[in-house]
Parts: sequence; structure tokens; C-alpha cells
Amino acid sequence: MNESPSTSVKRGMWSSRLAFILAATGSAVGLGNIWKFPYITGENGGGAFVLVYLLCIAAVGVPIMMAEVLIGRRGGHSPVRSIQLITERDGANPAWRWLAAVGVLAAFLILSFYSVIGGWAMSYVGTAATGQLAGQTADEIGAIFTGLLGSPATLLLWHTVFMALVMLVVAKGVRFGLERAVSILMPALFVLLLLVVGYAMTTGFFGQAVAFLFQPDFSKLTTSGVLVALGHAFFTLSLGMAVMMAYGSYLPKNISIAKTSLTVSVMDTGVALLAGLAIFPIVFANGLEPGAGPGLIFQTLPLAFGQMPLGSLFGTLFFVLLVFAAWTSGISLLEPLVEWLEERKGMNRLMSTLTAGIACWAVGIASILSLNLWSDFAPLGMFGMFEGKTIFDLLDFFTANILLPLGGLMVAVFAGWVMTRETLEQELSMSPAAFSLWYRTLRYFAPVAVAVVFVYNLV
Ligand code: TRP
Repeated sequence: MNESPSTSVKRGMWSSRLAFILAATGSAVGLGNIWKFPYITGENGGGAFVLVYLLCIAAVGVPIMMAEVLIGRRGGHSPVRSIQLITERDGANPAWRWLAAVGVLAAFLILSFYSVIGGWAMSYVGTAATGQLAGQTADEIGAIFTGLLGSPATLLLWHTVFMALVMLVVAKGVRFGLERAVSILMPALFVLLLLVVGYAMTTGFFGQAVAFLFQPDFSKLTTSGVLVALGHAFFTLSLGMAVMMAYGSYLPKNISIAKTSLTVSVMDTGVALLAGLAIFPIVFANGLEPGAGPGLIFQTLPLAFGQMPLGSLFGTLFFVLLVFAAWTSGISLLEPLVEWLEERKGMNRLMSTLTAGIACWAVGIASILSLNLWSDFAPLGMFGMFEGKTIFDLLDFFTANILLPLGGLMVAVFAGWVMTRETLEQELSMSPAAFSLWYRTLRYFAPVAVAVVFVYNLV
């Protein structure tokens, strides 16, 4: 095997395959699975959307995740530097390193509003713990949520706490403590989700929810729904912004990239589907609107906790775990920018964390205001497709539906067309048949699929 560039520099490695899987799963499983997946599924009519989403995960997401991890491990440095090293070795244009720069920008923008939603989850820890959910009607639960959105001060407080927690871990170096935290919290979150699914089965509306999620009705699927499904496949797997590249750079050489990527994707998808099975029976049992939007889980899950035995306890635990899931994802969103500032600007870890974190916090304030004081302000409203979209909506749309697929497309082209086949074969060491399937998907199917969905939506 050739010397890889990483052997020239000593870097810490994940302690095992499990450690990488845990960290990558910690990044992947987050608000995207539990908050976003159910509400966009509701907005896009259920079954057909879910099917497209699953296809995007399998045929675009998994191959691109493998490519990202591979690039990171091959380069062995921060994403920008890794790509630069690979272009030098494989004789390609060094401008490819901008690929990672797009990722850094996207991560920054996502974290700015992600932290606000993480703040919602934090505020619900208190709401559940003080018994405020017990025995409430759907209207009363709805009023709690509306009250939260209407209070910029409360939102700002929790946004600040969330961002501070993320910065705390990033300042210490990401791998410190992350493995252990994820290995306990992820299984716990899984068990609590199962508990809510168990409760949802008693509502009498479980069958209807299963049908809603898994019986495709293609008349409900729109072209923009396909774009949302594709964008969400990237969002939920933490792809398209060099995060998996950064994590892959710590992956020991003897570990199978294909198996680990598949494991992470399956777990991530499993959590999302469980969240759907937990939420939609409650939606139907209470006559709520599946397309209620970003507030969906905050208007449904509290109802379940308000009605089940020991609900305040389970509700508190659930929101604590949701905060942790969001936290481990938030950490992975800040990390690329911090690494970049360290490398490029020569700042130390603490300074770069403070700079990046505070800037991101400040941008987040615009999202907070767009939930209340600026809720009628649609900066790009003059363009038909952005009509009525607030700053928060625009940030979400621009990152998830534009920047991430674009980043993913570039990863696919870079790995599939720029890196040499020998390099790829060496890193993946798969059977020739499996390799060729992956290689073709990456070179042809994934880029074409992303491009087609893009073109259809923009014209
Ligand atoms: N995947 C996370 C979620 O589902 C969000 C996230 C973390 C992310 N890191 C990312 C999204 C990097 C895109 C890229 O909540």
C-alpha cells in the first residue's frame, strides 16, 4: 500500500470501529430525525415522500457518506487540507479545496438555527419536569408552544445556553468525552422512543399512522417534495459539509468504510422512522394537522406525556435526551469552522471556538426574531418560490435544499471523477462487485439524481 499523507503527522485516532460509529451516529442522529423528519413528512403528505426519502438515503446518501469518510481518511487532516493533499497526490486542481469551504459555510448557517430549535427542546425539559403537561388538552399544549415562540427573551436564553454547551465541548477538543456520552445516550434515546411508540399503539390510531407513513400516494408528491426529501437525506446523515470527512480523518486504516457507513445510516434512518411511528398516531388520535410545520413534535409528544402513566418523568427524560442528541450534532456542526480557523488563521482552540461560536450565536438571533417580531418579514418574498418564507425558513431552505445537495454533488464528482480508481480501491478494499456497484452509483447515479432534482426545482 502507498504511504498515505496522514502517516507524516501523528494524530489521535478513534479507539475502535465502535468509537467512530458512535461519534458519526451522534452527529447524524439529532433534531433532523426527531423534529424535522416527522414535520416535513406531514407537510409532504406521508408515504410517497417517505419512500423517496428512503431511496435518497440508500442510493445517494450511503454512497456519498462512504466517499466523504474515504476522503477524510485518505487526507488525514482537516477537510480543507485533506482535499488539498489528495489533489497534490492524485494530480488534480487544488481549487477543489473550496469544496470544503462551502461545507464550512453551510455548517455555520445550519448551526445558527439548529441551536434555536435545540433551545426549544431545552425549554420543554423544564415544562415537562414541572408537571405542566399532565392532563392538558391539545389546545392547551398548543398554547404552551405558541407562548414559547412569542417570547424572544426565553428563546434567546435557551439559544444562548445551547450554544454555550456546544462551545464548551468543542473548546476542549471534540473527542474528549464524546464517545462515552454517545454510547450511553443514544441507546437511552432509542429506548424512550420505543416507549412512546408503545404508548402510540394504545391510541387506536397506530394503523392509520402506519398507512400514512408507508402507503405511498404519489398524487401527494410534488417536485419540491422530492427536493426536500433529497435535501433531508443529506441533512440527516450529516453529509455535504465535510463533517464526515473530518470524522473520517480519525478512522484507523484497517476498518471497513462501507460497513461503518451502512451501520450509521441504518441507525439514523431507524430513529427517524421510530419518531414518525411515535408521533403520527398521536396526531391522528387528537385530530391534529399532520402538516402543522416545525412545531409538530412540540404539539404532539407533550400530549402523549400528559396522558401516559409517569408521563412527567418520561417526558422530562425524553426532552433531556433530545437535547443531548441535538448537542452531539451541534458539536459536529461547529467543529469544521473551528478547525478551519485554527489551521488558517493560526488561532488557538479556545479563541477559534469563541470566534466561531459567538458569530454563530449572533446570526441565530435573526432566526429567533423571525419566529415572533419579524414573523411577517419575508426578505425574498418577491420571488414566487420564497413567498411567505421568514429568515428562519430561508436559512433552512438554503442550507438543506441547496448547499448540502451541492456539497454532496461535489463530493461525488471529486471522489468519482477526480481521485484515482486505485486510491479508492485501496481505501475501500471491498469485493470487486461491491466496489463497482458503489463506483458507478457515485460517478453516475448520485450526481445525475441531484442535478435532475435541482434543475426541476429551479425552472
Ligand atoms: N444530522 C444532524 C441531524 O439530523 C444535523 C447535522 C449535524 C448536520 N451535523 C451535520 C447536517 C452536518 C448536515 C451536515 O439533526
